[in-house]
Amino acid sequence: MDLVRRVQAMQEMARQARGTGKKIAFVPTMGALHDGHLSLVRRARELGDVVVVSVFINPKQFGPAEDFARYPRDLARDADLCIQEGVDHLFAPEPDEMYPPGHRTFVDMEGLTTVLEGSARPGHFRGVLTVVMKLLHVVKPHFAFFGQKDAQQALIVRRMVKDLNLDAEVVVAPTVRHEDGLALSSRNAFLGPAERAAATVLSRALGRARQMVEREDVRSARAIEAAVREVLAAEPRARIDYVAVVDAETLEPREEITGETLIPLAVFLGGTRLIDNALVRPPAAPRPPAGDKA
Ligand code: PAF
Repeated sequence: MDLVRRVQAMQEMARQARGTGKKIAFVPTMGALHDGHLSLVRRARELGDVVVVSVFINPKQFGPAEDFARYPRDLARDADLCIQEGVDHLFAPEPDEMYPPGHRTFVDMEGLTTVLEGSARPGHFRGVLTVVMKLLHVVKPHFAFFGQKDAQQALIVRRMVKDLNLDAEVVVAPTVRHEDGLALSSRNAFLGPAERAAATVLSRALGRARQMVEREDVRSARAIEAAVREVLAAEPRARIDYVAVVDAETLEPREEITGETLIPLAVFLGGTRLIDNALVRPPAAPRPPAGDKA
């Protein structure tokens, strides 16, 4: 595996791979790799001839009061994991390499980026879309992999790829969870032991929502949201940032659960903010065509 630090070198490798008819499969990350990322890498290995992982903690997607400075960084460990997984190229540019002095172009999107995470973290998705667009231009992948844990991110990246006619297929892979239900996240490393134990409340709350929709035939979004909030409120260490019940494609609030529905939530445990979500649909609702949505 080679470690690539320069945009131009990465672009050259990508051009060569494409020139020889190889399929490039790309997993963009901010490092602190865990099994969730590695599940994406394994999927990438299946679909691509050349696997590229990027590790870039993108300053443009963090607000001024957010955790950019303390975000976990361990490139040596990430590189070891990539070697073990058979990654071909690890692209790890410095911030100045991705945003040289004078950089002033950003990618923005209407609507989908200003609700939920976008409302809680103003400017976040502008930073995400900008860096993903740049990474897609640099790595030139045929396939790009994102996790369902960041459901809104996966949705807007898919939207951008479609809207801007980018030559990459977005693949969204299921959330990987610990045995007790907590979704894997680099930010879990910030949790103290008591917070870590309390963090299972997120998946328990979503499990309750899934049970209501899929087993108890509940269709009222208001009732489902109330039940999720009740489970979360029973955990004294948890502070709700938001809970919503929205259309999985438009992110508009639902009143009735009629089709595919996303239940996203964000919860603080001490100073750590965790997100998770459940994608639910009434048992009788038709499934969307495969690969059509996050
Ligand atoms: O999900 C992430 O780790 C980041 O948002 C991404 C997609 C790598 C862009 O910085």
